[in-house]
Amino acid sequence: MATMTYQGLEVLYSRQQIAERVAEMGAQITRDLNGERLVMIGVLKGAAPFLADLARAIQADATFDFVAVSSYGSGQRSSGAVKLIKDLDQPIEGKNVLVVEDILDTGLTLAYLRKLFLQQHPRTLRIAALLDKPSRRIENINADYVGFSIPNLFVIGYGMDYAERYRNLPDICLMPPSPGE
Ligand code: IMP
Ligand code: MG
Repeated sequence: MATMTYQGLEVLYSRQQIAERVAEMGAQITRDLNGERLVMIGVLKGAAPFLADLARAIQADATFDFVAVSSYGSGQRSSGAVKLIKDLDQPIEGKNVLVVEDILDTGLTLAYLRKLFLQQHPRTLRIAALLDKPSRRIENINADYVGFSIPNLFVIGYGMDYAERYRNLPDICLMPPSPGE
């Protein structure tokens, strides 16, 4: 039987599995940095727990910045247009940038951000996504570091939400289908 949380949700990746994978990702990012500095850019709000854990698994001189975006459209269906709601606080020209995102889904968000950030001429621009849903991709974009590749499932927890709820669940869980679906 699948592991369940106190709310009766099915666990897809437990906090232990997440911690192990994040540690591996941090070690890989540390190796790739070769002793250079890093600017970690979190995509609010979903990436906040992942960024906090990933940052502590990276051995480098790192700073944080955050952006917030919204996609036009309602509910789970996006119209495809992405809007910047909160911009970077610091310039990234000449910096090693790591964009930290919870899920790479259609790729619309990260394709928009990549284009925006590249206009500022960072030294390097890499993407870390905790989860990847390659079957959902619309934009031609991939992450340099992926935690787990998953099929087309809607997940919640560890930063990820359904209508802003469940972000504080310590495990990544499956969103149960609503009655009638
Ligand atoms: P994209 O622009 O379609 O790649 O969308 C990425 C964003 O959609 C992620 O940052 C999430 O906020 C949201 N998203 C996509 N799939 C899920 C999911 O399964 N659960 C929660 N949020 C999701
Ligand atoms: Mg998000």
